[in-house]
Amino acid sequence: MFELVWTWISRLWRRPRRWRRAVDPRDRYGRRHSGQSEATVPISKREGSVHTLDFDDKITSGQNFELRPWNHKYVVPSLNCDLLREYLARSLRVEIGRVNDAADRAFIQRLIDLTRVPDLELPPFPTASLEVDKLLSKPDPPMAQIVRVVEQDPAFVQRVWARAKTAHYSQPPETLRLAIARLGFDELWKVGMSLCLNEGVFRVRGFQDEVEEVRQHGIIAADVVSWVSGHARGPYYMAGLLHDVGKLVVFRMASVRHAKNRPTVETVEQIIKKYHPAVGVIVAEAWQLGEVVKIGAGFHHNPLAARSEQRRTAAMVQVADIAAHAVIPNRGAREHVGRKDLVEKFGAELNVPEALARARGALGRFDANKERGAA
Ligand SMILES: [Fe+2]
Ligand SMILES: [Fe+2]
Repeated sequence: MFELVWTWISRLWRRPRRWRRAVDPRDRYGRRHSGQSEATVPISKREGSVHTLDFDDKITSGQNFELRPWNHKYVVPSLNCDLLREYLARSLRVEIGRVNDAADRAFIQRLIDLTRVPDLELPPFPTASLEVDKLLSKPDPPMAQIVRVVEQDPAFVQRVWARAKTAHYSQPPETLRLAIARLGFDELWKVGMSLCLNEGVFRVRGFQDEVEEVRQHGIIAADVVSWVSGHARGPYYMAGLLHDVGKLVVFRMASVRHAKNRPTVETVEQIIKKYHPAVGVIVAEAWQLGEVVKIGAGFHHNPLAARSEQRRTAAMVQVADIAAHAVIPNRGAREHVGRKDLVEKFGAELNVPEALARARGALGRFDANKERGAA
């Protein structure tokens, strides 16, 4: 009897403390990356016990990371960027204490200094892309104005031309207007929006291959989210395109002029893995891309950590993330593993073979565009 009473008393005692841990960033940050699943899922802790679902545990069950790069649960503690900046500063200071290498410490310090600045010192989102977005949202988009806007941006023009010269046509287009007409407005919009990931924005000495991989992954994921959401263009596409954009910012901070000052791969990988969702949300805020993009960046590794009304969006981006990783060639059994995970997590409501086919199609288009200099 005494034991029963004691159990109840200790349960009642523990409950408010667990709740405090979930909402108080100071308590949470120290243990957030300890590998405990509870520590990475603070917000919905207030909403119930979703984190105790079996399926939630399954995705962290010691799988080979090389085969499952999507398989970790790092998310953001909040979509509020003031809180996120505070969270990053605290957590990254802890990371500095964990590394021995001077170059590693300097790299993390650069990231701390950068994330204090609201705009992350990023160039503005390409103006021509935003103007084209605005014009295309009109019921009857004005072609003459669209052509004038595209003409202002040489990178935009170059990609439109390169894409319009496809094998479907025997002759290249004679004018920019014809090139745009060949592409169609949906494709034109996508070309415009993906300009924000171009080398002009993310030129990163020493990490070009990694950056290229993130761009390719984002473009494939964007097409899959587009299909899952049923919107050819708009915030869902952007959420897929930019869900890992935080990685590019971290690569920028890891990039140095002299190789001897370069941080270790292990540290860069660890920092990217843990913090790219948080940095991604800050990028989305800096570029004023809206809530859907922030949800995608912040929660694509664990939609259950998002608020209930945000989970659907986060889950669509997670589907795209897994599918886009799965179809990258030369990675052994990844597609098989990706299919298995998608079926396990979303099989009841998702046409998994179709999602993978979309991702494979997007990869094929990306490779073909790259050959023509239009990716
Ligand atoms: Fe990610
Ligand atoms: Fe991803």
